[in-house]
Amino acid sequence: MAKEVRTIGILTSGGDAPGMNAAIRAAVRRAIGNGLKVKGIQRGYMGLLNEEIVDMDKHSVSDIIQRGGTILGTARCSEFRTAEGQEKGAEICRKHGIDGMVVIGGDGSYRGAQALARQGINTIGLPGTIDLDIACTDYTIGFDTAVNTAMQAIDKVRDTSSSHERCSIIEVMGRNAGYIALWCGVANGAEDILLPEKYDYNEQRIIDNIISNRKHGKKHHIIINAEGIGHSTSMARRIEAATGIETRATILGYMQRGGSPSCKDRFYASIMGAFAADILAAGGTNRVIGYRDGKFQDFDMEEALTMTKEIPEYQFEISQALSR
Ligand code: ADP
Ligand code: F6P
Repeated sequence: MAKEVRTIGILTSGGDAPGMNAAIRAAVRRAIGNGLKVKGIQRGYMGLLNEEIVDMDKHSVSDIIQRGGTILGTARCSEFRTAEGQEKGAEICRKHGIDGMVVIGGDGSYRGAQALARQGINTIGLPGTIDLDIACTDYTIGFDTAVNTAMQAIDKVRDTSSSHERCSIIEVMGRNAGYIALWCGVANGAEDILLPEKYDYNEQRIIDNIISNRKHGKKHHIIINAEGIGHSTSMARRIEAATGIETRATILGYMQRGGSPSCKDRFYASIMGAFAADILAAGGTNRVIGYRDGKFQDFDMEEALTMTKEIPEYQFEISQALSR
């Protein structure tokens, strides 16, 4: 029989992502609507272990849907990777009457959520990461805003790159995943798109491409490089030496994680946050929420963590074809 949940906790963990606040707001308001009490845990698993726990009501989440970052704060916490840390976390939940938990974060955070579920706390994971690298879902909270932020920044670099007839290497985030690079590469019309999942480290091919484009009159050459490949600055030096064309590296960095969330991130995060509260109210546990095949769905956490995800081959092929 499903365990009855009376009080839920909510935490955000790992890298922040625009839309996390919309998810918090929805989970809080829907849980209260379902007759549950809600506590916010500040600074992720670190805050849980330090008992940074505050009561939340529907007013606690007023005026946040449009704000980037996370009002609960986030952190990385190595202690929570240990069995002792996880037992302590569950014990603190019980001490505060928390019998359900919403964890908003990436797949690292899901492992912590899985540990809490195993300790008897009903736990639901929400995909909060700009990287889009969670296998069970085609959408993660923050990706849409991040790619739009990066796309606009890359357009600006392109303006100055064309004026100076330079080559530009622009490095985007994504940890080991190339989704941000793929989307921006296509959306910005880049001449080269380097993804960690696909890059063959054939720099000569890039150099030949730059020289050929220049011969045909192209004034700029934009290379989108994924963080998982990195080394943009040294790559720029080598390319400049080989082509004789001024080459600059721009690492977009943390600006990609900030800013007011897009409509899509606000909407999807709101549905997902409410969905998590509904699952908890129904006694569900050990589930993660995703958007797949055109609908919001929940998956068994263990299964979700064994799923793998790859750059769609056709999308990759088109990205390469259009950049030539
Ligand atoms: P993300 O959630 O964005 O993938 P991390 O991988 O840094 O980010 O994970 C966030 C936090 O989740 C970690 O700091 C840690 O507290 C917790 N975590 C990560 N991996 C595990 C694990 N294997 N077991 C328990 N907790 C984990
Ligand atoms: O997971 C989101 C992300 O921004 C990655 O793209 C990046 O590799 C990482 O977090 C950076 O993490 P930190 O904030 O710990 O530097």
